[in-house]
Amino acid sequence: MAATTGDREAGWREAYTRVRKNPLTPVDRTNRARLRAMGFDDLDPGVEWLDLGAGDGNLSATLLDLGVRRLTALEVQADLATRVPRGAAVVVGDVRALPLAGGWVSVAVVMDVLHHVPTDDLDVVLGELARVLRPGGHLLVCEPAPTVVRAVLTVLLGSPLASLTAFSRDKRRMVELEADTLVPWLRGESDFAGRAASAGFVLERTTRRPLHTLRRFRFRP
Ligand SMILES: C[S@@+](CC[C@H](N)C(=O)[O-])C[C@H]1O[C@@H](n2cnc3c(N)ncnc32)[C@H](O)[C@@H]1O
Repeated sequence: MAATTGDREAGWREAYTRVRKNPLTPVDRTNRARLRAMGFDDLDPGVEWLDLGAGDGNLSATLLDLGVRRLTALEVQADLATRVPRGAAVVVGDVRALPLAGGWVSVAVVMDVLHHVPTDDLDVVLGELARVLRPGGHLLVCEPAPTVVRAVLTVLLGSPLASLTAFSRDKRRMVELEADTLVPWLRGESDFAGRAASAGFVLERTTRRPLHTLRRFRFRP
């Protein structure tokens, strides 16, 4: 398996935690808008859901609030997994080797996680998703996109302006530590949709936002 990224450093976790708690970026509102864009409203909250790369559990909290009850949150960093809210079953593990049985997940959500995985390992991740999802299950994916807005922000983060606020300092630190795995996504090299199609995932909808692309797939083995 390829090397892990800088997100395993304490400095990344501290910056991530501050960014997620920053009132400028209200995570619950953002999560709801992203879930809606990925078609949450016509999915059944009563089935088995999986929040992959759950981080501090902010998305799990939103899902629980929206009525999802059978929720498993998987996160590779134990320090973060301890913060996932009660109500979700917490599993510490890697998306490239899910410590989960096969064929029981109805909806898997992956929010801002795959750009932390080396591009060479994305097919392994898709294989693991294909293993745990039920036939006909859904995969919701939100990842950074190579947009003009993101390019401008990236330039600004590299400028002296970026040290003006704690928020921009934290964002810059995160981007620096994620760079090895993030850059292929920003160069459009990850070809996630093409890889997903090869693994049996049918693209149902795509929403392009200023900073992210959000996709919903249906798993048809
Ligand atoms: C930017 S955070 C997003 C967390 C959460 N989904 C959110 O939206 O706040 C990326 C998360 O992916 C996790 N992660 C990175 N590589 C992973 C892997 N191979 N397996 C599982 N989780 C991973 C990181 O530890 C981190 O918590």
